[in-house]
Parts: sequence; C-alpha cells; structure tokens
Amino acid sequence: MKISLKLAALAIAAGTFASLPFAASAQTASKPVDPAVVESYLKSTFGKAPPEWQARIQPDETLKTCNKYHNEVPSAEADKITARELARVVYPADGKLLGDWKSGAKIANNGRGGQFSDPPDTVSGGNCYACHQMEQKELSFGTLGPSLTHYGKDRKYDPEEIKRAYTKVYDSQALYACSNMPRFGVNHVLNEQQIKDIIAFLFDPESPVNK
Ligand code: HEC
Repeated sequence: MKISLKLAALAIAAGTFASLPFAASAQTASKPVDPAVVESYLKSTFGKAPPEWQARIQPDETLKTCNKYHNEVPSAEADKITARELARVVYPADGKLLGDWKSGAKIANNGRGGQFSDPPDTVSGGNCYACHQMEQKELSFGTLGPSLTHYGKDRKYDPEEIKRAYTKVYDSQALYACSNMPRFGVNHVLNEQQIKDIIAFLFDPESPVNK
C-alpha cells in the first residue's frame, strides 16, 4: 500500500513536470506550434475586449520579426529593429530628462494598469521591480533584468548615460532588439513626465537607488 501510494505521488510529480514551460519548449523545438494557432488563441482570449484593445494584439513589424526568430534575431535584422525603434523615441521638448525621484519611486513600484476593465483615467505604473532590483530597502523584486541599484552613482551621473536610460525606458528595443523589457513610451504605458520621474529615481544623487 505504501509503495503504490509512492508510485502515485511519482506519477503526479512526473505529470506536473511534463506541463512545465521548459518541457513544453523542448517539445516545440522539434515541432513548432503553428503561429496561426497561437494567433487565434490570443484573439479568443481578447474576445470581450473593446476594439481598440483588440488592435493591441496585432504584432507590429518589430514583434513579427522577434516572433519569427523566437527572439534570436540575426544581426542584420537586429540592426533594423534598433534603428526602427530608435526613430520612435520622443525626447522631452524642454530638453530636461530628470523629473521628481519621489514620484519615480512610486511609479517603479506600481504594477497597476493595462487592463481593459480599468476606468479611462487609470494611471499605469512601470512595474520595474517585477524585473529589477532598485533601491536596496525594497526586498521584493524580480531578477529577469539586471539590478539597477546605484545605477546613477555607478555611471557618475553622466548626461550621456541619463539619455541612454531615458531611451531604454521609452523604447527598450531601441537599444536591444527583442528585449524582454516592455516599450513603455511607444506603447503609451507611461507618459513623458512619468518617464522623467523614473529616470530621476535612477539618476538623482538623493534617490535611495544611489544610497
Ligand atoms: C518584464 C521585465 C522588465 C520590466 C518590467 C522592466 N525591465 Fe528593464 N530590463 C529588463 C531586461 C531583461 C533588461 C536587460 C536586457 C535589455 O537591456 O533589454 C533590462 C534592462 C534595463 C536597463 C538597462 C540596464 C543596463 O544594463 O544598463 C534599464 C536602465 C532598465 N531596464 C530600466 C527599467 C525601468 C526603469 C523599468 C520600469 C519602468 C523597467 N526596466 C522595467 C526587463 C524588464
């Protein structure tokens, strides 16, 4: 009895294992899922969303290329993506890239927004902590992206680095083709003032990121 229970537990464990994403991708490596199937599945999950939201699941030229190559784009394609995305970055007309770090801290830690049931005046956050460590006192953070602790200090608050970070947050793919980081500015997740505030959170010497 004891043994059969153990076997059952093993079978369950094996079953769970087989459904994990890495097992699934090992299978898809030999037999890729038809992109049309993926597209129709996505569309069905967006069935109840208003039409302007449905338009958002149409991949743009850049995403189409990333999907085609499973994010491992050949360098010529990568160059095309970064050039195309760089051309989409809009820098502030007043030339100032740094806003208020205190507001930036809140935006970085806010994962709200991006749901079609949101009231129209909902302000979205950047959800940066989902992927990055930032100020050290925040213990809850993801590690998909590199740690951004001491980001400004380590870069000596260099204006070129400030511009680079603004570009990165506005359109991550302007600097790295098929990046896993969202394109916050081009996709209208964050507005100009919010991006300035986030950049101040990274680059203001008073910001806890640099303490
Ligand atoms: C879904 C995960 C994800 C989210 C959310 C995210 N990032 Fe990233 N970020 C990444 C990854 C992965 C990289 C490294 C690859 C790359 O450069 O694209 C990165 C790179 C960066 C870099 C460049 C780091 C370097 O090497 O100099 C900066 C700056 C940055 N992110 C800032 C932010 C800020 C600010 C936010 C919030 C507004 C944010 N990220 C949200 C995943 C994310």
